[in-house]
Amino acid sequence: MPMTRARIGRGAVIAALSGAMISSAAAQGWTIPQPSPGLMPNPAQGKALYAQHCAACHGTDLKGSDKGPPMLHKVYEPSHHANMAFQLAVANGVRAHHWQFGDMAPVPELTPDDVAHITAFVRGEQRKMGIR
Ligand code: HEC
Repeated sequence: MPMTRARIGRGAVIAALSGAMISSAAAQGWTIPQPSPGLMPNPAQGKALYAQHCAACHGTDLKGSDKGPPMLHKVYEPSHHANMAFQLAVANGVRAHHWQFGDMAPVPELTPDDVAHITAFVRGEQRKMGIR
């Protein structure tokens, strides 16, 4: 069934989204949302946006909940999930592939700039835990 195959392909692209795979994601017709040129991602702003839009599932302390995985986890270190993965996750949602929580729905009210701020916040917290 073509529909099913397309959906499997999409999950695989997200799963494989390390730096080297980004061009392949783009080649498959993915539009990667881009923050405004020259934006300085602001972790403090990201923290507030994270609390409002992400914490319910990924945990107020980024350690996960019964609805979503921890962001303070090696699987989300920058070399395994590049910042691009955050943009794609928020814009398109995520098909469950690493965990058993089910799919993540898109969060359409956030702009790419919002996501860049959130990513800066998460990266800062990861670094504090030695995840880099
Ligand atoms: C309704 C629950 C829920 C909310 C709200 C949510 N997520 Fe998720 N998110 C998930 C689940 C579940 C997964 C894990 C899917 C898997 O890999 O099994 C996930 C995975 C991710 C991933 C990994 C994507 C990948 O490529 O594997 C990123 C990045 C992410 N979320 C970022 C965010 C950000 C940023 C927000 C807030 C804007 C957010 N999430 C809000 C449930 C949620």
